[in-house]
Amino acid sequence: MYYPDELIEEVRMNNDIVDVISGYVKLQKKGANYFGLCPFHNEKSPSFSVSSGKQMYYCFGCGAGGNVLTFIMEYENYTFQEALQMLADRAGITLPRMEYSKEARAQAEYRARLLEVNKLAANYFYYQLKQPQGRHGYEYFHDKRGLTDKTIVHFGLGYSNKTSDDLYRFLKDKGYEDSFLKDTGLVTLEERGGRDKFWNRVMFPIMDVNNRVIAFGGRVMGEGEPKYLNSPETRLFDKSRNLYGLNYARTSRASYLLLCEGYLDVISLHQAGFTNAVASLGTAFTSQHANVLKRYTDQVVLTYDSDEAGTKAALRAIPVLKDAGISCKILDMKPCKDPDEFIKHMGPEAFQQRIDQAKNSFIFEIDVLKENYHMNDPEQKTTFYQEIARRLLRFGEALERENYLQAVAREQMIHPDELRGLVNRMGMSLGLKAGDSLNWDGSLHEAGGVEWPAEPGARRMEADGAGRRYGRGESEGRYRSYSGDPQGKVRKPDREDGIRRSQRLLLTWLIENQELFEKIRGIITADDFVEELYHQVAVMVFEGHEAGNLNPAAILSRFINDEDQYKEVAALFNASLKESLSNEEQKKAFAETVMKVRKNSLDVASRNAKDITQLQEIIKQQAALKQLHISLD
Ligand code: UTP
Ligand code: MN
Repeated sequence: MYYPDELIEEVRMNNDIVDVISGYVKLQKKGANYFGLCPFHNEKSPSFSVSSGKQMYYCFGCGAGGNVLTFIMEYENYTFQEALQMLADRAGITLPRMEYSKEARAQAEYRARLLEVNKLAANYFYYQLKQPQGRHGYEYFHDKRGLTDKTIVHFGLGYSNKTSDDLYRFLKDKGYEDSFLKDTGLVTLEERGGRDKFWNRVMFPIMDVNNRVIAFGGRVMGEGEPKYLNSPETRLFDKSRNLYGLNYARTSRASYLLLCEGYLDVISLHQAGFTNAVASLGTAFTSQHANVLKRYTDQVVLTYDSDEAGTKAALRAIPVLKDAGISCKILDMKPCKDPDEFIKHMGPEAFQQRIDQAKNSFIFEIDVLKENYHMNDPEQKTTFYQEIARRLLRFGEALERENYLQAVAREQMIHPDELRGLVNRMGMSLGLKAGDSLNWDGSLHEAGGVEWPAEPGARRMEADGAGRRYGRGESEGRYRSYSGDPQGKVRKPDREDGIRRSQRLLLTWLIENQELFEKIRGIITADDFVEELYHQVAVMVFEGHEAGNLNPAAILSRFINDEDQYKEVAALFNASLKESLSNEEQKKAFAETVMKVRKNSLDVASRNAKDITQLQEIIKQQAALKQLHISLD
């Protein structure tokens, strides 16, 4: 849904940022700003600042920054739409209803009805759990599985009793017709009438990220098949997208999520304080799951069962996570079977230790591989080492390969020089050049680099250090800044980056300081900011200064739909020049930056000139620029 800028602005202006953030963070006034502990990273002394004047926040520790809308988006993990809705509600502003087509309206009503039924059913199951006929279920949760009353309420656990059609009759009484009820997955319609799908099971409502019940899982008490029965997929419930526990985990402040297999793993972990645990339920972990997770984190610790099925599932989940740009580690659960059992027998501290010791996925894969070989048979041992070398060759980046090589060598107690020699020999025999890597299927991924070093341990070379992707999403871009050439010299930073930086600097100064703006009036215009994003901001900043009502938070709102952009713009507005331009050096820096930006803008214009007259005009301006002296006094 598209909302006009004026409306977004109205919502923003009616939610004072200090008021709103005070509801989440304890703020203290210091000078013109408010300070508190940053909710976006762990810290002991406050570096999180909120400016009432600018209506923005900024953390000097982690660089998080934005306006009231982005705060709600980040803190609550809301989409823009959801944040806007929440703040509109808070301010008593009614957002215009979507312009529905007849069909779309029917769809929305259908979904709303499904939600309503699921909620009723969840309440019904919970109520049953508390009745004498539900005693059995309650005891199962409470005594057998060690769940506290608080946990039972928190997860809305319930019980479907032994009567085979009581939920059906309950829902019929509420006025729902058969044709609708059969779509809910809660009942089946038979000749004799409606029958409940869940019968004599303890019930787990499955919630979406907005805490709305969208489906159920039901477990037999004791033995029986199937152990878990789940709602079928409906318009609300998509198994390959939904993650159990994410509604709570998304607001946990941990930097990573714990991914496990089952309902009770998640619940036990949350009860033990690991509120960042989620599970993909009764289905393999899919790329859609990964994309959902990616909205909340880029680090996952896999806490799958320690049995063969769990290990297999982990091996399958690793590349899926990596492809989504999530790095993952694998937790060793042994000697326990799953997180639930681990917490019960070993306690939360031991579990935290296991998290801290969780293995890098590559090392884990090598561990699993090792089980296929008899290590006291020299031939098999050799094959195992060769397989390690082959896998190390998947890393095209020499530095990264070396890091993994050392880690594997340590783990497998192989001398690193030997392993390195093996990798190099194998690389040569496969005709690899530096920077090349093997694809996962063993085929060659060419980077077009220089020859592979002949001597083991000889200087390793990089073809280029510029964030290439290697292997299959393996540590994508982590060495982006590592730039080397065959001579081992570090490459000069790109000239383009310098210009970009100058534009950014100048823009931050101009935002801060109306006086500076007056000084460069007539010398620089918004069009001199040739970097697209900065140009957009500059246009609004210049307009704001001209009209005498520069409004940073309002400008930021324009970029709210693009996370990367708003972060960058937020940083622009917050990177204030500490002191005013009082000392000579700063004045000089400012003047130089102005010249640089202007010169670059003219250079770009001259490259794009369409005819001679245009070019002549630009040359004239270039000459004028050389004569220009910017004085700040
Ligand atoms: P597990 O068998 O590991 O279950 O299946 P669990 O969560 O450890 O259960 P408890 O501790 O024995 O009660 C892991 C998950 O796979 C799904 C469920 O979501 C379960 O939580 N599953 C399992 C099914 O959907 N159907 C089944 O028959 C079994
Ligand atoms: Mn279990």
